[in-house]
Amino acid sequence: MSELLARHRAVMPNWLALNYHDPIEIVSGKGNRVIDADGKSYLDFFAGILTNMIGYDVPEVRAAVERQLATGVVHTSTVYLLRGQVELAEKIARVSGIPDAKVFFTNSGTEANETALLLATYARKSDQVLAMRQSYHGRSFGAISVTSNRSWKNNSLSPLNVHFLHGADRHLVQFEGLSDADYIKACVDDLRHVLATSVSDDVAALIAEPVQGVGGFTMAPDGLFAAYKEVLDEQGILFISDEVQTGWGRTGSSFFGIGNHGVTPDMITFAKGLGNGFAVGGVVARGDLMDAPHAVGLSTFGGNPISMAAANATLDYVLDHDLQANAARTGEIIISGLKAAAERLSVVKGVRGKGLMFAVELETPAQAGRFMELTKRAGLLAGKGGLYGTAIRMAPPLTLTVEEATEGLGIIVTALETIDAEAAAQ
Ligand SMILES: Cc1ncc(COP(=O)(O)O)c(C=O)c1O
Repeated sequence: MSELLARHRAVMPNWLALNYHDPIEIVSGKGNRVIDADGKSYLDFFAGILTNMIGYDVPEVRAAVERQLATGVVHTSTVYLLRGQVELAEKIARVSGIPDAKVFFTNSGTEANETALLLATYARKSDQVLAMRQSYHGRSFGAISVTSNRSWKNNSLSPLNVHFLHGADRHLVQFEGLSDADYIKACVDDLRHVLATSVSDDVAALIAEPVQGVGGFTMAPDGLFAAYKEVLDEQGILFISDEVQTGWGRTGSSFFGIGNHGVTPDMITFAKGLGNGFAVGGVVARGDLMDAPHAVGLSTFGGNPISMAAANATLDYVLDHDLQANAARTGEIIISGLKAAAERLSVVKGVRGKGLMFAVELETPAQAGRFMELTKRAGLLAGKGGLYGTAIRMAPPLTLTVEEATEGLGIIVTALETIDAEAAAQ
């Protein structure tokens, strides 16, 4: 065990999971690659859990942060005007497509979802919330209560009354063989049944990830959320799209993941990639919902000048370089390459994804662990996940080049071939 790992084990919680048998310490990065403490270089297909959205050491982000540092002001608080917040809120309100949108900044995705749930329960005067099976929305009591993955729930304490819906679980036997349209119909029927049987009076909101992150990039067929929204609208139930992983063009086909369903939600929550590593999260919501709470509120560090400088520079970079189009282009190379390889690899049970957010479903958690070790050795960082621990999830920076996409695909396919051969030899 390395000296740092021993010190980590002594003072950090056991449940703070580390990747790899011999965990690595990343000490530097440039472009879409990082270097570990032993000097080994990796193509980064996990990007700090989808957070280093435009890669490492980006001059524009660095310059923006350095300009802010040079003013001597790292923090003032929201009791003073903050130009960076206003500028970023204007941009986010515009790209959200939400009418008369207003924005509140937080430090994390968890806090963003707490805020959205507060706004929804306040507006609807109800503690009843709908969420999706296999979801993950964060680590606070409210966020855990709408999380549907037992591995991430330590207890069932909940400030909310939650019912979980189908929609990203078509592997279940009752949905086997259904077309997209029939699966959507079955899910909508179930939603109506839940609303008829399991709730009382008004429901506040549905919260959903367009592509489930921790769930292993499982997702509803395009159009499901439009069909759900028709039912929700009949009862005035609000719709919150958790775009902590799916925002800013990552899915290639839409700037926010929910756009793939042709839906404009009432609120969008975001975090992770927006600050390209600097802590920033938030909610963009219909102005009437955002303005409604009667009590005053603030987030001390939320939207601080440094994170706003980084986030403004990052969002400008994404828009100026049309990284959504790049995600579509490079993601297609990888996803189609993986699907082609899967046809001859019996250990691969599925390939799914949109843009630069793609996953490979293996047969066993041990195979997923083996994949992690093999790709690490070959110089590529990936992530694990999924309800059953059998999904490999990957989401490189949106700045990935065509050459890097091809290189990464090669490493992934070689690792899968090795695992396939090992399984065949057993
Ligand atoms: C979809 C989604 N929502 C919310 C969160 C929570 O974000 P944070 O870890 O910044 O609190 C995550 C984190 O992985 C996430 O993937």
